[in-house]
Parts: sequence; structure tokens; C-alpha cells
Amino acid sequence: MNLSLENRVVILTGAASGIGLACLKAFAAEGSAIIAADINAEPLEAAVKAAGGKVIAQTADVTDAAQVQALVTRAVKEFGRVDVMFNNAGGAFPTPTEQQSIEDYKRIIALNLDSVFYGVHAALPVMLKQGRGCILSTTSGAGLNAVDGLAVYGAAKAGVINLMKSVATEFGNRGIRANTISPGAMDTPALRAWLNTFPDGPARYGRQIPSGRLGTGEDIARAALFLASDAAEYINGVVVPIDGATHARLASPQLN
Ligand SMILES: NC(=O)c1ccc[n+]([C@@H]2O[C@H](COP(=O)([O-])OP(=O)(O)OC[C@H]3O[C@@H](n4cnc5c(N)ncnc54)[C@H](O)[C@@H]3O)[C@@H](O)[C@H]2O)c1
Repeated sequence: MNLSLENRVVILTGAASGIGLACLKAFAAEGSAIIAADINAEPLEAAVKAAGGKVIAQTADVTDAAQVQALVTRAVKEFGRVDVMFNNAGGAFPTPTEQQSIEDYKRIIALNLDSVFYGVHAALPVMLKQGRGCILSTTSGAGLNAVDGLAVYGAAKAGVINLMKSVATEFGNRGIRANTISPGAMDTPALRAWLNTFPDGPARYGRQIPSGRLGTGEDIARAALFLASDAAEYINGVVVPIDGATHARLASPQLN
């Protein structure tokens, strides 16, 4: 299937690592024009250089509304429009809920929910003027169901899902699509660093996933390309779990 993403203008946050990096490579390979954003300047520059094509690196902290607005302004200045706003940056900081400080609560909500609203707030006016636009946001299995130690992250990610549904229903008849990608356990540097603290961690975790392995950034990137393309023009307001059926399984006791 030709997804016709050539010259589509994409803003992608969290582009220097993991899922974002895989998506950066995938959109660049399709010939999209990309504003690649990350808080981490050095790996971002390296990623953009390696991706080649029409990709511009812009260091930005997505918890700062003005810096997210600047991404949209840059896209319009350089490429004349915004076709895809991909709010991907985020992160989990597992903490038992009773130990969660108010300060960290605010930090986690800012990174995982406020950032997505800033992306919507900045991109929507341009997209409405264009009469079309696609917003993609990354949630988590922890936004679909509860995970011990991730209450605040999960609440933020659940908020992302509802925000995307709201945008889809409020602006669907004006050419806007807003969908959410829900990764399962993806083999990114952050997850692997944590799993490596357990004996045989990555392989053991992989075996517990119904599809029998950890996911990869590329698993997400292929779905993101499709959702961003016109092939998905009637797909709006959905959450797509890309998790090897993890979301589908009811937890049962592991008795042996
Ligand atoms: N890896 C997984 O298993 C998994 C599972 C579910 C959801 N997710 C979600 O997927 C998204 C990407 O995660 P990942 O695993 O690729 O993580 P990652 O840590 O590999 O990459 C995240 C990127 O976001 C950047 N970033 C962090 N804070 C930022 C900020 N304030 N402003 C701009 N950029 C910032 C980081 O520098 C990094 O390059 C996140 O939203 C995460 O919550 C990941």
C-alpha cells in the first residue's frame, strides 16, 4: 500500500530515543517533512543527521507551552503547514502511590498530559485553517488499565485518551482526526535498562506477553505511518493497542 506520506509535514516529539526515534526514521524514509523535537539536544541532532531527508531538529521541552507552540510556528515557517502533530514524548517514573510527592505528581502530569494538550492547542488552529489535520498521541497500557506504582502516569495517559476522543468528536466534521497509540512493553533503552536489573529480565518478560516477545519501536512506527496516512481517513477517536495482546488478557494467578 502506498501511504503517500511524501512531503506530509509532521511534528514529532520525543524523537531522539525509543519509539520516537523509530517513528522519525520511518516518516523520514517515507519522504515526510519533519520537525523532530526532543529535550535532549545531542542525541536529537545525531538522530536527525542519521535520518536524512527533510528533517529539522528543534530542541524543545514539551512541558513548556511556548516551546511546543514554537514547533508549530517553525513547521509553518519552513514547510507552510502541519499535517501530523505526533505527541509522543513522555515517561513513567514508577513510585508506590503513597510515596508520591505532590511535586512529582505535577511533573508527571506535565510531561504526559499537559504536553499533549499543548500540542493540540498549538496545532489545532493551523489544522482548522487548512481544513484537515491528524493528531496522534502516545498513551500506554497503564492508561488503559491500572499498573501498580504507575497511578499518576496512568491517570495522565488515561487523560490523553479522552483528550484525543474529545478532539476527534468536536472537530471530526472539520477535517481533524485524533487517535491514540497504546504501546505495550516496547524494547526501548528505558525499558531494557529496567528489565536488565532482573535476571534474564527481557526474555522472561517477553515470554509473558501473549504474542511471545517484547514489542519494538518499529512495531509502533508502522502503525503510526498508517494512522497518519489517508488510508486511515475514516479512523478517528480510537485507541490502538500495539502490545501483542497484553491488553486483551485478564490477569490470572501465576500458580506454577
Ligand atoms: N517503551 C515502552 O514500553 C512504553 C510503553 C508504553 C508507553 N510508552 C510511551 O511511549 C512514549 C515514548 O517512550 P519511549 O519508551 O520511546 O521512551 P524513551 O525514554 O526511549 O524516549 C522518550 C524521549 O522523550 C524525550 N523527552 C523526555 N522528556 C521530554 C520533554 N520534557 N520534552 C521533550 N522531550 C522529552 C527523551 O529525551 C527521549 O528522547 C512515551 O510517551 C511513553 O510514556 C512507552
